[in-house]
Amino acid sequence: MKMLKIKEQLTVDLSAAKTLEEVEQVRVRYLGRKGVITTLAKNTDFRTLSAEEKRSFGTKLNELKNFAEEALAEAKEKAAAVKHAQKATGLDLTLPGTGKKLGNLHPISLIQLELENIFQGMGFTVVPSPECELEFYNFDAVNIPADHPAREMQDTFWLKNGMLMRTHTSANQVRTMERLGVPLRAIFPGRCFRNEAVDPSHENTFYQCEGLVVDKDISVANLIAVMKTLLGEIFHREVTVRLRPGFFPFVEPGFELDLQCLICGGKGCSTCHGTGWIELIPCGLVHPRVLEYAGVDPKEYSGFAFGVGLTRLAMMKYGIPDIRLLNAGDIRFNEQFPAMV
Ligand code: PHE
Repeated sequence: MKMLKIKEQLTVDLSAAKTLEEVEQVRVRYLGRKGVITTLAKNTDFRTLSAEEKRSFGTKLNELKNFAEEALAEAKEKAAAVKHAQKATGLDLTLPGTGKKLGNLHPISLIQLELENIFQGMGFTVVPSPECELEFYNFDAVNIPADHPAREMQDTFWLKNGMLMRTHTSANQVRTMERLGVPLRAIFPGRCFRNEAVDPSHENTFYQCEGLVVDKDISVANLIAVMKTLLGEIFHREVTVRLRPGFFPFVEPGFELDLQCLICGGKGCSTCHGTGWIELIPCGLVHPRVLEYAGVDPKEYSGFAFGVGLTRLAMMKYGIPDIRLLNAGDIRFNEQFPAMV
């Protein structure tokens, strides 16, 4: 056999050798006393070769031996690692896969990961936030005192220990300022709860993603720029937005940010109820009192906040007609979404 052929065949044999024993068999086949490489030298009739040819043959033979030794050592190491892993885990990693489909992410998770990605690209920190809250952070700290009518719109589940299931991610605004200090740029996505009569567009459990930016000289222009960037990335096109006045006790001024309907381009269709606009993101400049609750001086700092309805956004992006499908845990529903973002 020619040396090049031997090299090739050795590589093929080694890639098929999975266990230490099999690697050893290959070693014997090539480098053993009667091995292919060993006999190559023996079977060559040196008398027929010139001095030059002898030298060249010797060099090549040495190269081949070195190659074989290195390749064998590498294969041996690999086989030993597999054996070790097998011992440690009880799993045979060399077995072929079962061909079963991998699981996929829930549409809410997909949209959440997408948002986290987009905001991280804009320098935001993703902050974890508790679902079970103190009344103070959920209501008082965001300027909703006990006698405020907004409390009635956000009835929730109260726990025996006096805490509650948060009604919105805004509950984490003051916590975040306390923890991270200002200036800051953060989002906190998560699950929220309200005591709702359940129908195709209302659930007692839903997801929001709050955003909070506090710095010097923050204005509505910054808010609009961030919102337009976000929506452009989510819907993969330039979007048109408008702000309408909206009331939330923790922002001043407060807005409803509407998205020009992407289905009809603003002409009016059934998705936008004939108006050409879709109400999408409540937002506004952080109320001075909220900053004060967090120990931040409103004369020095200002900020904006927004609350993206993740559930709503997922329904729009994936065309999900009934909110109840999202929490039903039906695998046939979940399997219809992409496996990864
Ligand atoms: N927390 C509000 C809600 O749940 C939304 C919101 C967030 C409004 C931030 C303004 C600013 O309805």
